[in-house]
Amino acid sequence: MIKEEKIQENKLHILGRLSAGLIHEIRNPLSVINLNLDYIKIYKDELNPEMNECINACLESSERINQLIENFLDFSKKNHSTDEYASINVVTEKAVEIMLATCRKSNIELQTILQEDIPKVKFQTLKMLQVFLNLMTNAVEASLSGGKIILRSYKKEVKNDSFVFWEIVDNGTGIEDDDREKIFTDFYTNKETGIGIGLSVCKMLLDEHNAELEFESEFGKGSRFIIKFNIGG
Ligand SMILES: Nc1ncnc2c1ncn2[C@@H]1O[C@H](COP(=O)(O)OP(=O)(O)OP(=O)(O)O)[C@@H](O)[C@H]1O
Ligand SMILES: [Mg+2]
Repeated sequence: MIKEEKIQENKLHILGRLSAGLIHEIRNPLSVINLNLDYIKIYKDELNPEMNECINACLESSERINQLIENFLDFSKKNHSTDEYASINVVTEKAVEIMLATCRKSNIELQTILQEDIPKVKFQTLKMLQVFLNLMTNAVEASLSGGKIILRSYKKEVKNDSFVFWEIVDNGTGIEDDDREKIFTDFYTNKETGIGIGLSVCKMLLDEHNAELEFESEFGKGSRFIIKFNIGG
């Protein structure tokens, strides 16, 4: 093993231990946030719809953090099977609900073009939500004010196999040719506050479910990330 790989392996080991500690400590402040949001909700009839939307998005997100913590704790205990079928459109709508307030604040339009009666795919719902939110967050972060993001789901036959596709298109910054190879690498980021693991996590979760992630991008024009779920012939 070359020296850099050894350093990277050590870093990952330390990171594993740090994240376990972090998860443990996140639970307490999170329950405070939850309690306070629930308290504010008592006054929902006196608040305007936009404020209620913000509160709901916060509650949804804190519930998601809770679920992620549970997942993390489960993961450290045992290996979970993925025999669950998720409705790609329902998960997309949930993701839109969560991201709506953020998009509105950044003046980004969010459009969905979802094919009706699309078959469910073998995927844990929460993990699918995690993948969609990571890709949507990246699209939002790459977009400028006035930008537009389109989420699309559709079924397509390729040769003798059936696939469900989910794609996200943005008209943001795009990706430079030199960076194409790097974006799936752990800790690669071009953002000041980025960690650089969003796409690696997506890839890991999609690999677990035998789904593929591809992208097309033109620097200065925008990007398209495509997920391909094989649903058999
Ligand atoms: N839709 C997109 N448009 C332009 N660049 C993108 C897009 N999605 C990803 N990238 C590029 O890929 C890099 C890696 O993305 P990734 O989600 O893994 O990390 P990040 O967003 O930088 O940080 P985080 O860990 O918070 O997600 C980004 O820093 C960005 O340069
Ligand atoms: Mg990201």
